[in-house]
Amino acid sequence: MSAPLPSGIERVLFTEEEIALRIGELGARISRDYAGKTVKLVGILKGSIFFLTALARAIEVPVKMDFLGISSFSNRSGAPGVVRIAKDLDDAIEGEDVLLVEDIVDTGFTLRYLLQNLAGRAPNSLAVCTFLDRTSRRIVQVPVDYRCFEIPDRFVVGFGLDFQQLYRNLGYVAVMKHEKTV
Ligand code: IMP
Ligand code: MG
Repeated sequence: MSAPLPSGIERVLFTEEEIALRIGELGARISRDYAGKTVKLVGILKGSIFFLTALARAIEVPVKMDFLGISSFSNRSGAPGVVRIAKDLDDAIEGEDVLLVEDIVDTGFTLRYLLQNLAGRAPNSLAVCTFLDRTSRRIVQVPVDYRCFEIPDRFVVGFGLDFQQLYRNLGYVAVMKHEKTV
């Protein structure tokens, strides 16, 4: 990393190169699993967009995309999160092979809500692909079909993940200097 780290950043967890490599591997796996199908990537705004666009380019079967905006009040104290859809999908997903794309699965509350909501719209199939997975903090069990990286119990930013809306544009994933709460 040639540029100095921003002052709030402690250390880089995954470099741009490591991320690109893993996304390439995941894209190849998804291409094999969805051979002969069209996969609809459903991205959760805003955290997943950097991951989703990179993943889409690594997938070799036909790809469609749509986006869901949510307000999530889940916090790191373990209180159940309240999730609400702030921007719905543009199109129906009935009969489609949907791959829900998340930035990070933490407690699992957000994902559980989204899976219940999308399953109710009768897709042909529904699977989950997350950039980061912090299984040590899971409270509700949710199925994660594809993931790039398992991460330790530290707050991370970059490659789409934010702290107070900042740091999403970092090309790498980094640990914040002081334990932050969301
Ligand atoms: P869950 O409902 O606890 O699984 O919450 C997942 C959501 O919390 C993610 O989609 C993120 O928006 C946010 N989140 C959890 N951990 C982090 C982190 O380390 N950095 C940035 N956002 C996080
Ligand atoms: Mg999110």
